[in-house]
Amino acid sequence: MGLRLVEKGNHSKRMVVFVAIFLITTLFILYNSNSVNESYEAFKVIGYNSATKNTDLKKWAGKDGYVPVFGNKSLTLHYKQCALVTSSSHVLGTGAGAEIDRAECVIRMNDAPTSGFEADVGNKTSLRVVAHSSVIRLVRKPQEFLNCTDCPSIIFWGPPTKIGRDANGALYRLIHRVAATYTNLSTFIVTPGKMHKFDTLFQRETGRDRQKSQSWLSTGWFTMVIAIEICDKIKVYGMVPPSYCGRHPQPKRMPYHYYKPRGPDECVTYLQNERGRRGNHHRFITEKQVFARWAKLYNISFVYPTW
Ligand SMILES: *[C@@H]1O[C@H](CO)[C@@H](O)[C@H](O)[C@H]1NC(C)=O
Ligand SMILES: *[C@@H]1O[C@H](CO)[C@@H](O)[C@H](O)[C@H]1NC(C)=O
Ligand SMILES: *[C@@H]1O[C@H](CO)[C@@H](O)[C@H](O)[C@H]1NC(C)=O
Ligand SMILES: *[C@@H]1O[C@H](CO)[C@@H](O)[C@H](O)[C@H]1NC(C)=O
Ligand SMILES: *[C@@H]1O[C@H](CO)[C@@H](O)[C@H](O)[C@H]1NC(C)=O
Repeated sequence: MGLRLVEKGNHSKRMVVFVAIFLITTLFILYNSNSVNESYEAFKVIGYNSATKNTDLKKWAGKDGYVPVFGNKSLTLHYKQCALVTSSSHVLGTGAGAEIDRAECVIRMNDAPTSGFEADVGNKTSLRVVAHSSVIRLVRKPQEFLNCTDCPSIIFWGPPTKIGRDANGALYRLIHRVAATYTNLSTFIVTPGKMHKFDTLFQRETGRDRQKSQSWLSTGWFTMVIAIEICDKIKVYGMVPPSYCGRHPQPKRMPYHYYKPRGPDECVTYLQNERGRRGNHHRFITEKQVFARWAKLYNISFVYPTW
């Protein structure tokens, strides 16, 4: 189990106690994160106001919604050009790695690795957007994600009740411990106020009543919005267009994640989530319809596939 800690002389007794607590916490979170199935319970938003459509994402919420977990690092808030690399297996075999690494800023999601996939996804990470349910996967592979010299910024998103500083829950403490241990990282948490705004934004852009449709936001949603906030121009690698999974004949089976070759099929995952009426569902296809609209407004282009 990841996270090795820097020992300092006579503190080893305290360390033993700490490590024990840490392991218990980790197991607890592991148990919980499996049971929540990568989902995030939406805030209850009242009504849908068409008058507030066409939010200007460059200034929709202010950029102060990301607070440092530890220390006083600040998030770089402006790039001329960004590569947003998805976790989709459409990136495999593209040989786009070198091009991706030339981008001023390379944005990745959750625990999508670069080791072993450099030729297709590159080896540079400037910013990683991570769901509360993926924190544990970063902790399990510290050499891949945390122990770095030229470190990325990491933005953690999740329900304030789980990752919020005020809640001071197990997951917040784990994130804090990671940030305090790997001080080369710049780690941030989306504030409760900003989480609420992300949620309202989805409501406004899709017109869906979230209480009835039981939709949850995906890491892709957060990542795209953050990219628009900080990048003048975005090239997205490996995101399919909204109509993709509805094509006839159906596209050939593709693993959902490039680093999980035996994981679930991409379109099966998208369609099951989009149609789901009960329980926790991401609206991946609805989200992509919004992305298509934003692409025209905010200099976004899509490759692998191109659309
Ligand atoms: C980071 O990795 C190096 C080896 O590459 C190791 O010596 C060091 O202890 C690690 N640091 C932490 C905090 O795990
Ligand atoms: C941030 O903290 C470091 C060390 O704690 C200090 O040297 C530096 O001046 C601080 N920077 C700002 C902008 O406060
Ligand atoms: C990865 O990083 C090294 C050095 O930082 C660089 O030489 C190499 O071209 C990079 N790109 C790929 C695709 O491996
Ligand atoms: C942090 O980065 C510096 C260089 O900027 C490096 O010398 C140091 O080893 C890094 N620390 C860790 C824990 O990787
Ligand atoms: C689109 O990107 C170019 C740089 O490639 C920039 O000059 C232009 O201002 C951007 N347009 C918008 C609407 O951000």
